[in-house]
Amino acid sequence: MATTQTRSKTLVKTSVKTATKRKKKPAAKAKGWRTARTSDRHELYELSVQEPSAEIAFMERAFRERFGRVPTVLREDFCGTGFASCAWVQHRRNNRAYGIDLCSKTMAWGKGRHGTALTTDECKRMQWIKGDVRSTPTEPADVLAALNFSYFLFKTRAGLLEYFRAAFSNLKQGGLFVLDAYGGYESFSVITESRNLDGFTYLWDTEKYNPITGEVLNHIHFKFPDGTELRKAFTYDWRLWTLAEIQETLIEAGFVRPAVYWEGTVKKTGEGDGVFRRKTVGEACGGWIAYIVAEKPAAGQAKSTAKRPARRSAR
Ligand SMILES: C[S@@+](CC[C@H](N)C(=O)[O-])C[C@H]1O[C@@H](n2cnc3c(N)ncnc32)[C@H](O)[C@@H]1O
Repeated sequence: MATTQTRSKTLVKTSVKTATKRKKKPAAKAKGWRTARTSDRHELYELSVQEPSAEIAFMERAFRERFGRVPTVLREDFCGTGFASCAWVQHRRNNRAYGIDLCSKTMAWGKGRHGTALTTDECKRMQWIKGDVRSTPTEPADVLAALNFSYFLFKTRAGLLEYFRAAFSNLKQGGLFVLDAYGGYESFSVITESRNLDGFTYLWDTEKYNPITGEVLNHIHFKFPDGTELRKAFTYDWRLWTLAEIQETLIEAGFVRPAVYWEGTVKKTGEGDGVFRRKTVGEACGGWIAYIVAEKPAAGQAKSTAKRPARRSAR
């Protein structure tokens, strides 16, 4: 999950990535330097909604808070282009990552973009696996990440539970499941939100929301200064799960101490500040993104911690 400089709590599906962290293009070049014809949808997607360094910093912090050590093995479910997994093996010398995705074309793009940037040693520590996250076992991970809301594609409670049980089985005892979610009253509305990025505009389009089933149909479009567009570059037909449903299902799957990390707000602008802290009370704003984490208990701790409320107070 990423953030952007334009992220406002009235917006959904936004990036944490701050353009301030990114080198700005010279003004003359920035205007109109991208067009639909010359752009790659995966590249624009990554620029719009992913920021591996922030995601890794969050995962390490949440893991350290609970287990008092640094995690080494990451399993990234729904890894897509493997952006986060490749960054993980680059981040620390001993880190290993397993990226799992059903789509070989998306992974092939990622191997070309991120895999080729890895050293020989980093390559050995990064495994790309084509498979269904529900039926592709790997070495048990310290951290299992399912980011950018990918698990929303499981539309029923039974389907979500099946996936969470698989995630549980792919974690070490004393491992952490890290997910993200979005919501807020605007996410139930048929609207399109836009953000201007580096040479293009990112649009998050909610085409349909069905309040009876909770199903939502979203698209990502990209627009360019010359008027050209990449319409429906990505489409998501999924269920808008609530944080309460997600936490309840995590517990049903065997996880303990699920917790929500809520994003802070920049007072002046009302925008998200990219800092996620553990909270038990959120804001009823138009749009928010949050992380959810839950533990697979360490050996011998399952019974004693399963019903215990979160140990730490909200911060
Ligand atoms: C929203 S993208 C997420 C990409 C990336 N993780 C991110 O953070 O932006 C969802 C990805 O899930 C993959 N996918 C969908 N169903 C899957 C399944 N059952 N098992 C593995 N991958 C799946 C799709 O191929 C797609 O690449």
